Amino acid sequence: MSFLKVEEIRKDFPILEEKIRDRKLVYLDSAASSLKPVQVVEVVKKFELYEYSNIHRGVYTLSQKATQKYEEAREKICKFINANSLEEVIFTYGTTDALNIIAYTYGLKHLQKDDEVLLTIFEHHSNILPWRAVASMKGARIKYVDILDDGRLDYSDFEEKLSEKTKIVSIAQTSNTLGTLVDVKKIAKRVHEVGGVVVIDGAQSVPHLPVDVQDLGIDFLAFSGHKMLGPTGIGVLWVKRDLVDDIPPLRLGGGAIRDVELDRFTLLDPPHRFEAGTPNISGAIGLGAAVEYLMKIGISNVKRHEEELMKYTFKRFEEFGDSIIVYGPKDVSERSGIMLFNVEGMDPNIVGSLLDSYGIAVRSGKHCAHLLYRRLKLDGAVRASYYIYNNVDDVEIFASALEEIIKT
Ligand SMILES: Cc1ncc(COP(=O)(O)O)c(C=O)c1O
Repeated sequence: MSFLKVEEIRKDFPILEEKIRDRKLVYLDSAASSLKPVQVVEVVKKFELYEYSNIHRGVYTLSQKATQKYEEAREKICKFINANSLEEVIFTYGTTDALNIIAYTYGLKHLQKDDEVLLTIFEHHSNILPWRAVASMKGARIKYVDILDDGRLDYSDFEEKLSEKTKIVSIAQTSNTLGTLVDVKKIAKRVHEVGGVVVIDGAQSVPHLPVDVQDLGIDFLAFSGHKMLGPTGIGVLWVKRDLVDDIPPLRLGGGAIRDVELDRFTLLDPPHRFEAGTPNISGAIGLGAAVEYLMKIGISNVKRHEEELMKYTFKRFEEFGDSIIVYGPKDVSERSGIMLFNVEGMDPNIVGSLLDSYGIAVRSGKHCAHLLYRRLKLDGAVRASYYIYNNVDDVEIFASALEEIIKT
């Protein structure tokens, strides 16, 4: 059953017509960055060529229109994640930037000596290193929740490590390696019971499944535009309204300030106080167009479509027996459209290069998650990741190429 009109969708991505090494391009690296549809590129192009000016500054028509477009993008994002108000939606340069902002504002302000920050062993470096830096400045400790052997999060280990000392829990809703889906609602409830706050790294979840910040009951959410059909250099930090006034802006400067006197200054209201300097205006407008595209096809359909592709991939992989080792949960309802694997006895980078000779783009290595690879005692793996433009034909080409690689 098809949840998306993939053949129609593919027409919006002209890059898919390109030949790679004389073969049809099979793009299986959307977890690193997604392809861009014409609808997004055209909106950005139109803005840059015909509607461009700086925002929030001019009284002239062009500037007011540009401001309106930028703010309309914020409205679309607000709706997409079901934020309570526009004040909660802050434009950043991406997930890494958003996570650094939370660590260096909320973290730096609230962490005390001997407090604890809870992460998981599969976090992306962008959700580890900012916390490590801030924790060491404040004398706080980092703890890592482990995984079960099948790659699911170990909720009993989470319970064991959670305590009154836990002030911040920062977790990826979807692991960028194992594909594991985390029960964020359950975690948020428990963290609040001990008086902590919950930060969700939504880099791999917001583009692929419905994320409703109010329903999840979280405090912060970070995600990137370039992984969800939007441009690079734009992302979002969502902060729950009650906490917005509690965090100082990380960056100060033009665009964030109401008034400056010789010995004091007053900030603008949120979210503008967090967006000092000229922001990535066309990036934000492009992200607005990307969100519109995703809302049109239905984000729940994206999730179901990827589940179908994963089911088919697992079925094909079964034929390879022990020649392929798959990591992460076996049940597709517990993982996203990310397939992490190794070919028995082969270096993952060589597998990646061989797949490239078939026109297939996958990512090999350690995927910015060295702690996980240490935990798994692996030097790396190959990651294939699906999105809205991938079809069964892509999976078939991928599986057939692997079959040949294994044979030869
Ligand atoms: C789970 C996760 N967190 C954070 C990031 C960092 O995102 P960005 O490079 O867009 O800042 C990534 C990127 O791959 C990711 O997968």
